[in-house]
Amino acid sequence: MPKVSNLPEYIAEILGQYYGLVVEIPHYLSEMAMIAKSQGWVNIEREVLRNRAEEYGSRTDGIPHRSLFSRGLRQEMHLEVESFQRQTVTHNFLCSLMYSLVHKSPEFALGVIYALEDTATPELLVVGQLISYIHEGVSVDNLSSNDLAAKDRQIPASELSLASFLRMHIVDFEIGHREGLKTAIAKDLGNTLSGEFLKGYQSVIQSMEDWWWYLAAVCE
Ligand SMILES: [Fe+2]
Ligand SMILES: [Fe+2]
Repeated sequence: MPKVSNLPEYIAEILGQYYGLVVEIPHYLSEMAMIAKSQGWVNIEREVLRNRAEEYGSRTDGIPHRSLFSRGLRQEMHLEVESFQRQTVTHNFLCSLMYSLVHKSPEFALGVIYALEDTATPELLVVGQLISYIHEGVSVDNLSSNDLAAKDRQIPASELSLASFLRMHIVDFEIGHREGLKTAIAKDLGNTLSGEFLKGYQSVIQSMEDWWWYLAAVCE
């Protein structure tokens, strides 16, 4: 782990591990888009590609979200999150997600992606809280403010603060991903979801829970 002054090392380490998920999300979406295409799920394919385009910067002046996040951590907290090595538990968690997408059934894969979008907002609130402990520019009270998010949207992406980046995800981007996917699923599959979807969803909840508990334990 790199030396970070004035920053509790365990929070830095957790942010470094979380960054791995931020990096991998567009790859999972790419895989889901291919699965949707193979199944003729046209609305799901369109929504997943819209989501991926957003991750790559379609609403942030072409700057990918991973870059905005790492830049904010570097500029405001002197944390070089890109240089962190993934711990084995993070590697296994991230690989297990791709394994599920590639090797399980299409509806299981859909449950995996839906779970990732559904958990993104509460997970970001945890990340925001961790950051708030060591960065006075980030306040948990302000991370869910629609009024502040409306002001954030007026700021060029090249000037977005870490707090603005987190807020835009919490009140806008991630809500849109979850609701957009929910609507697309209803259009393509109606009420015919099988138990496979639920199994895929639950597999993510369980492995994500394990991942966070492990990070909390080893970083103490
Ligand atoms: Fe994002
Ligand atoms: Fe998302």
